[in-house]
Amino acid sequence: MKTLRLSTDPTEYDQSLQTAADLLKAGGTVAIPTETVYGLAASAFDEKAVKKIFTAKGRPQDNPLIVHIASQDDLTTVARDIPKTAYRLIGRFWPGPLTLVLKRNDRIPASVSAGLDTVAVRMPENAVARDVIDASGLPLAAPSANTSGRPSPTSPDAVLEDLDGKIDAVMMSETCAVGVESTVVTLCTDPPRLLRPGAVTAEQLREYLPDLILDPAILAEPEKGAAVSSPGMKYKHYAPKTETVLVEGENAAFVKFVNGQPDCAALCFAEEADGITIPKLVYGNAADERTLAHEVFSVLRHADLFEATKIYVHAPSKKGVGLAVYNRLLRAAAFQVVKL
Ligand code: TXA
Ligand code: MG
Repeated sequence: MKTLRLSTDPTEYDQSLQTAADLLKAGGTVAIPTETVYGLAASAFDEKAVKKIFTAKGRPQDNPLIVHIASQDDLTTVARDIPKTAYRLIGRFWPGPLTLVLKRNDRIPASVSAGLDTVAVRMPENAVARDVIDASGLPLAAPSANTSGRPSPTSPDAVLEDLDGKIDAVMMSETCAVGVESTVVTLCTDPPRLLRPGAVTAEQLREYLPDLILDPAILAEPEKGAAVSSPGMKYKHYAPKTETVLVEGENAAFVKFVNGQPDCAALCFAEEADGITIPKLVYGNAADERTLAHEVFSVLRHADLFEATKIYVHAPSKKGVGLAVYNRLLRAAAFQVVKL
């Protein structure tokens, strides 16, 4: 199939929205920008369309999708028995990078949620995402628009690198403001549980959910065969093709360590880059975790170009959105961590 590039230039925008909406209503797949990462969207009401998402990504059938809506009024067509705390969180964090797991409304086919009786739902902030949802008049199921296991895409080029010829269209927009996927929290357990960290931080959520717990899978490798609350957590993820190792330690120790590793490459902080003598990519400032979130997937995608034996990534702090960056890097490294 030919993948259409739909321009978001002002002169062509309305036409592109119309084309995207027509494709989605006809059961097609369209990649859309969101403030977190690009998503591969299809009608959440249409089982066949949802199946196309799984096929294009090569996604395991047991990994459920997030449903995207543009108006709070649409929440009741996606979920049911919505608790009051959900509305408090929505009032504070929507539109934005927070996904809530709620009880699933029967209008959403079970296959969207990989057979679970819950559904993950969010309202993105990105204007193009909202315009596409509005124009289609549908709730849109959308996982990250990458081949399963690869780093999530934060630009249209990254989407096309993985999915050109496998999806109907891409909205050609800017890079994503946040850079890591949304925070996922389930309100279907007691106490509520943080399943995936993101730009809405655990610290922020605790103001509304004082008894929130962090799923153990966020920072540790799930045991083989163990039940996991969020199926997405059990897969190796976000990985370059080159073997990747996460390194914890002070800047000076990291510099000394990687300089002693010929044939390897480093993903490092701006503050330490000058001292590093092996090939390197800077992924942001250690002092501002948001800069690291913005670049982490882009550097993971480019790291293979070094043709290094191994890639050593300097681990960020786990504060704020740093926890999300750490969580993604841990999976990219298949849980290989060196502590200096
Ligand atoms: O920022 C984002 O959330 C992006 C953009 C496109 O919105 N989407 C995204 O989707 O990251 P995906 O499919 O790559 O990740 C969805 C995550 C997975 O870890 C999945 O297991 C979890 O959400 N999830 C989805 N439905 C769930 C459910 N009913 N219960 C528990 N976890 C669920
Ligand atoms: Mg994903």
